[in-house]
Amino acid sequence: MSTASLPAHSDPPPGPNHVAIIMDGNGRWAKARGLPRVAGHRRGADAVRRVVRGAGELGIPILTLFAFSTENWTRPAEEVNDLMGLLRHYLRSELEELHRNGARLRVIGNRAGLAPDIVRDIERAEAMTHANSRIDVNICVNYGARDEILRAARRLAEQVAAGELEADRIDEGRFERELLTSGVPDPDLLIRTSGEQRISNFLLWQCAYAELIFVDTLWPDFGKEHLERAMAEFRRRERRYGGVVG
Ligand code: FPP
Repeated sequence: MSTASLPAHSDPPPGPNHVAIIMDGNGRWAKARGLPRVAGHRRGADAVRRVVRGAGELGIPILTLFAFSTENWTRPAEEVNDLMGLLRHYLRSELEELHRNGARLRVIGNRAGLAPDIVRDIERAEAMTHANSRIDVNICVNYGARDEILRAARRLAEQVAAGELEADRIDEGRFERELLTSGVPDPDLLIRTSGEQRISNFLLWQCAYAELIFVDTLWPDFGKEHLERAMAEFRRRERRYGGVVG
């Protein structure tokens, strides 16, 4: 065997290509300090800025953050307002920097339930950054995976009923095209902060083969170094996709 085919020791280990994060623990961070929950969410928004910047520096091609779920509407109205306010502020205050740093921003979720001014801000941010290619930053807002999968199934059923599609032509590729993440490669690493070990209705289809990493750090304390540690752990794992390696 020629040594030319062996990877050089200096070759960087592969991946992850797409990191998805369930940002959890804002409330506990605030409670531990005797502060209102909104203070935790504010520090959580600071962590979003830090982690987006860090992901760009670490060369992660795609970063997806779970900011607001379809179930989060059941929180007290004041907390929902605070979260929407932080999202509004983020979309306005970070847009220039995201654009300057080559980030393509995409908001994933059901927009029908969002305030019209937030939808306008989302559309503006997506239009401004759509040609950027250094890092894709996806923010999931009013997102729920079961809702996403149900809507996809319903749309396909409608096409079959209308005679536009044959049922046996529905394969994984066709199904994926109906998902909100259509065109986005699946996450290969899913991180959840705060010690909870659940997926909580996040990217259920897309995370079929993702490596799961649960860290105890609360989201407001999470930063580039934690991301780097999770990436190193990901690289140590052997990924088999249901097959056999070696
Ligand atoms: C979980 O903490 C976090 C959320 C429900 C929302 C995440 C939101 C942010 C990080 C801030 C705004 C986002 C952007 C994109 C600017 P929790 O309240 O469930 O914490 P707990 O489990 O400790 O109560």
